[in-house]
Amino acid sequence: MIELKDITKTYRKNGSLEVKVLEGINLEIKKGDFVAIMAPSGMGKSTLMNIIGCLDRPTGGEYFLDGAEVDKMNDDELSRTRNKKIGFVFQSFNLLPKTTALENVELPLIYSPVDVDLKAKAKAALEAVGLGDRIDHMPSELSGGQQQRVAIARALVNDPAIILADEPTGNLDTASSNEVMGIFTKLNRDGRTIILVTHEAEVAEKAERIIRMMDGRIVSDERRAK
Ligand SMILES: Nc1ncnc2c1ncn2[C@@H]1O[C@H](COP(=O)(O)OP(=O)(O)O)[C@@H](O)[C@H]1O
Ligand SMILES: [Mg+2]
Repeated sequence: MIELKDITKTYRKNGSLEVKVLEGINLEIKKGDFVAIMAPSGMGKSTLMNIIGCLDRPTGGEYFLDGAEVDKMNDDELSRTRNKKIGFVFQSFNLLPKTTALENVELPLIYSPVDVDLKAKAKAALEAVGLGDRIDHMPSELSGGQQQRVAIARALVNDPAIILADEPTGNLDTASSNEVMGIFTKLNRDGRTIILVTHEAEVAEKAERIIRMMDGRIVSDERRAK
């Protein structure tokens, strides 16, 4: 499903100073995998997620997603691929504050055909994360774990094959973190590919495959028994 071949990323600051963040990432992720990518802060986790998520392009190397070569795509193709295949979850939830859970989840559906029942789809996504009884709540009326579950519902509503989560438990206490990881585990059992990045070992251990990165490269890749 996802294949990265010798992916590099170099940022240029003010046109001169180069920061090499990814120095040759080789990685294959199969449909239905549940992967945690672990590295300390500043090691390029978000950079790699943005490349996998078609939000940014690598400096070098090849990226294949379901056989299509992402590194050769123009901006339109990149955003179409992203909208069709990928749902994002971020550390800071990124919910609209004065908008109900239901309306937050409906947002990504704005480009749907007119005959699609937005409300029904958004409600189904909220039910899938166990929040069917909270659809009319504002984010401020929900716990951190519940807010992140709304964000997961929003990522799910277009039915993407892949969920990418960038430090999804970084702002949560242990109980909420476990609750969110439980949702990812369930979505993965339902066939969804889950890729998350974290610097917390306890979080990574909930995944089935743990990839460790250091100094721009993958240093280990291990599978846990199911
Ligand atoms: N847009 C950018 N321009 C320049 N440098 C960047 C940019 N984004 C990230 N970096 C640098 O790349 C390195 C890795 O960043 P990041 O991928 O955010 O790491 P992580 O998510 O693991 O904390 C950091 O040194 C960061 O300062
Ligand atoms: Mg980051």
